[in-house]
Amino acid sequence: MKLSIIGSGYVGLVTGTCLAEAGHTVICVDNNQAKVKELQAGRIPIYEPGLEDLIRRNVQLKRLSFTASIKEAVENSEVIFIAVPTPPQEDGSVDLSYVEHVAREIAEVLPGYRIIVDKSTVPVKTGEHVTETIRRYCRKGVEFDVVSNPEFLREGSAVADLQKPDRIVIGVASDRPVAAMKAIYEPFKAPIMITDLNSAELIKHAANSFLALKITYINLVAAVCEASQANVTQVAEGMGSDARIGRAFLNAGLGYGGSCFPKDVSAFIRIAEELGVDFGLMREVEKINASIPERFLKKLRSSLWVMKDKKVGQLGLAFKANTDDVRSSVAIELAKRMVAEGAILRCHDPKGGEKARELLPQGVEIVSDAYQVAEGADVLIVATEWPEYRLLDWHKIKNSMRTPRIFDGRNLLNPAEMKSLGFEYTSVGR
Ligand code: NAD
Ligand code: UGA
Repeated sequence: MKLSIIGSGYVGLVTGTCLAEAGHTVICVDNNQAKVKELQAGRIPIYEPGLEDLIRRNVQLKRLSFTASIKEAVENSEVIFIAVPTPPQEDGSVDLSYVEHVAREIAEVLPGYRIIVDKSTVPVKTGEHVTETIRRYCRKGVEFDVVSNPEFLREGSAVADLQKPDRIVIGVASDRPVAAMKAIYEPFKAPIMITDLNSAELIKHAANSFLALKITYINLVAAVCEASQANVTQVAEGMGSDARIGRAFLNAGLGYGGSCFPKDVSAFIRIAEELGVDFGLMREVEKINASIPERFLKKLRSSLWVMKDKKVGQLGLAFKANTDDVRSSVAIELAKRMVAEGAILRCHDPKGGEKARELLPQGVEIVSDAYQVAEGADVLIVATEWPEYRLLDWHKIKNSMRTPRIFDGRNLLNPAEMKSLGFEYTSVGR
């Protein structure tokens, strides 16, 4: 089928590429001209495992192309996906101006029947507003359908998540777009759920909030483990072996961050409030999650005694492993707080260093060799769970530090191994 994706960021670019790989002809659109030029020149603006090869292949096969023109995309495709940002406003509610803008732009150039699919994460009832907006701005008599197709990919495993999804949710207001939507996703051989528009939109916010709740729950359990000399990893294994609970998203650490959970949790709270439902449960989750970095710093302070002028090495800046995304990264927040308390900070991240530069305070050094962060350091912080950090020569690291001390915020390393190497080793809930 002929498809286009408006917005070529983490979601749009990966979705467009995987749909091209599935055999469709896809035009990816972005209003950032520089980004489009980069993509046309074969340079990929984000790091996502497996993405670059897929883009190259599908561009060569002429199934994938890039443009800044929404008109060109709308004229040449049967189905148009919207994957633009839905950032939080100051009060936590969703800024829908990007979605509205794109809906208007599509409407103004709509030549005939098209299916317009919202893939951005939006509040329930946005589909109704998009429908109304397109109706207002399109030529009289032009027919169209608006579909909600929320995306569940995770950064760092986006290609795999897209190609092998647990389910594909398609929310519709009529039967007309269903066959085309099923045909688009048929090559993925995944369960397809057809719902009404509002339910599809709600599934996305409800799912993200539930996952954030699950992470927060285990972080509180970790605090109880610390106070009772229990081991949160063992507790999570024991809980997670119950099929009704599941092991996923029970990793205690520094709390959830990134461009999605924090914004989607506060959005869901506001959405519920506006509909007259007090979602105090999620307000509590927000509050607890915000307090986790401080809990970690408190332990660090009690070990360092004085933070000022201490040399701190930090492994990891990205909000999670396997991505270069540093938006709302707890690792960045930790770094900022330690610098504010007078620490001298040197950081490393396999992919996120460049993007982190503009978010970190002046004076923070970013090095390209992980061993350098440890040299002469009073403490080494593990802030992102990059698997390659596990494989470092920890004996060499121990010998290069001023005081061999590790604060592992992600429970990445083996406590017994670290202690036997002679480190003072502190992790979360174990
Ligand atoms: P992003 O910032 O990485 O990408 C958005 C892209 O849209 C940018 O390249 C931007 O230049 C472009 N854009 C903005 N306005 C435009 C316009 N008028 N015309 C054309 N292009 C425009 O954002 P993202 O992370 O891909 O998120 C997009 C949406 O998907 C959000 O609603 C987000 O909540 C949701 N989502 C994100 C993820 C994720 O892991 N990042 C996963 C699922 C859902
Ligand atoms: C998340 C969801 O997992 C995706 O399904 C969803 O599509 C996406 O948000 C979105 O809506 O944008 P993502 O933010 O890419 O994906 O990454 P996650 O793997 O969910 O991690 C989010 C945060 O939670 C990270 O800070 C991570 O370190 C933390 N986390 C995750 C934990 O602290 N413990 C865990 O067990 C899992």
